[in-house]
Amino acid sequence: MELLYKSVISEELKELEKSLLSSISSDISLATEISNYLLLSGGKRLRPALCILVSKALEYDGEDLIKLASSIELLHTATLIHDDVVDESLFRRGKESIHSKWDNAHGVLVGDFVYSKAFQLMASFKNPEIIRTLADSTNRISEGEVLQLSLKSQDLLEKDYFNIVDRKTAELFKAAVLTSGILASCESNTLLCLREFATSLGIAYQVQDDILDYFGDEELTGKKNGKDFQEGKFTLPVIMAMKLANSKDKSAMISLLQEGDLKKFPQMLDYLVEKNINSQIKETFTFYSTNCLESLEILPESPYKDALKDIVINLDSRLT
Ligand code: IPE
Ligand code: IPE
Ligand code: MG
Ligand code: MG
Repeated sequence: MELLYKSVISEELKELEKSLLSSISSDISLATEISNYLLLSGGKRLRPALCILVSKALEYDGEDLIKLASSIELLHTATLIHDDVVDESLFRRGKESIHSKWDNAHGVLVGDFVYSKAFQLMASFKNPEIIRTLADSTNRISEGEVLQLSLKSQDLLEKDYFNIVDRKTAELFKAAVLTSGILASCESNTLLCLREFATSLGIAYQVQDDILDYFGDEELTGKKNGKDFQEGKFTLPVIMAMKLANSKDKSAMISLLQEGDLKKFPQMLDYLVEKNINSQIKETFTFYSTNCLESLEILPESPYKDALKDIVINLDSRLT
């Protein structure tokens, strides 16, 4: 099943692809080659799609939309390249990640290259509010990743988890829809609702990503299950399970995570299943996705609004 946005903004998405390719061209062919390797590997283009859909829903018909959407996707691409180095993830989008195909130095430097290409696009906007929003978001995303490093601990609380996720994931969703709203000169009340929509969407999205790491279908996600476990990350499924566990089970779960031995992943899964974590998290997920749908009501009816709703409704399927 294909999500509605792919057909509703198919022309704009084609333009986006052209723009992305031309944005990362460089005299240094190795930089372009490696960036292309990831850019052309089938990302969902969800963030630029949000940006395009929101502007269109607000009847923007100026020239800057594809450039804005491209800068958002380039920021996303750069964070993924660096994230895979940090997380030592071997796969991304079903292919070898950049640092595993080349090495860490290539990952770090090409990540910087893609960031700087995003900044070049960002700098070309005439509206300083757009530039400031994008710059602030870039900063908050990196803060989220750093915070996650320092909070790899058994004492991680739900509130810390949501603080990290608000930054490392929801922030770029926010930047995508806020800059899009600013571009379309929308009213401040609409901007507030768009912020609410994007924050809830980003959180629901990351919560779902963390569930998929334990319970996902690898063929659909293009990622190996158990990565968060292997890295000893205290993601929401684990935080919730530990809250419900007696002290013996809690210590056992902490040891399993600290060891990070994939052979023992089924043992961790058993704990999560026993504590019925899947249905507990569904409640959290439903809270945020309902909030998303309510916040969208501020937009006038249009096929673009329908496509935004469709993204929210199908969030838990993670189909392309
Ligand atoms: C991956 O984002 C990073 C997370 C926030 C979980 P996406 O799932 O949007 O990745 P692509 O761009 O479609 O590969
Ligand atoms: C994704 O975070 C990177 C950012 C949101 C910056 P994760 O490490 O949780 O996601 P995946 O599983 O690698 O895509
Ligand atoms: Mg990662
Ligand atoms: Mg990470």
